[in-house]
Amino acid sequence: MRKIFLIILIVISVVLGSCSKKSSGGNLYVPTSVDVTSTATLAELTEGRALYVNNCGNCHNLYSPDDYTASGWRSALSAMIPRTGMNSSQATLVTKYVTRGI
Ligand code: HEC
Repeated sequence: MRKIFLIILIVISVVLGSCSKKSSGGNLYVPTSVDVTSTATLAELTEGRALYVNNCGNCHNLYSPDDYTASGWRSALSAMIPRTGMNSSQATLVTKYVTRGI
């Protein structure tokens, strides 16, 4: 009997663990004036978000901007941009969004 409880507990914690991972991947901030930096305007961040959502979720779930550092994003993007139909100015906007304007 005790074994069954233990197994149920393990199953519940595995399920909860995978849920929390998904929700962190779903954190796609909507840019507001506080996100503006010296290199990214609000319009650029907003357009970058739209391009990111529309072009980067076809093959896998969208990663959260918080999942990678700015340099981590740059290397991931150099591999991923060619897999989309985006041009270089669109790529720049997506980069600004996911790196939070860095
Ligand atoms: C044509 C399918 C496809 C598209 C479109 C695509 N990806 Fe990917 N992505 C993959 C695959 C497959 C992987 C698994 C790793 C690999 O193959 O490099 C991946 C992995 C990743 C990773 C994890 C890289 C790592 O090192 O862990 C990130 C971040 C990522 N993609 C971001 C993006 C972004 C941002 C875009 C839009 C610019 C995008 N992806 C568009 C197929 C795609």
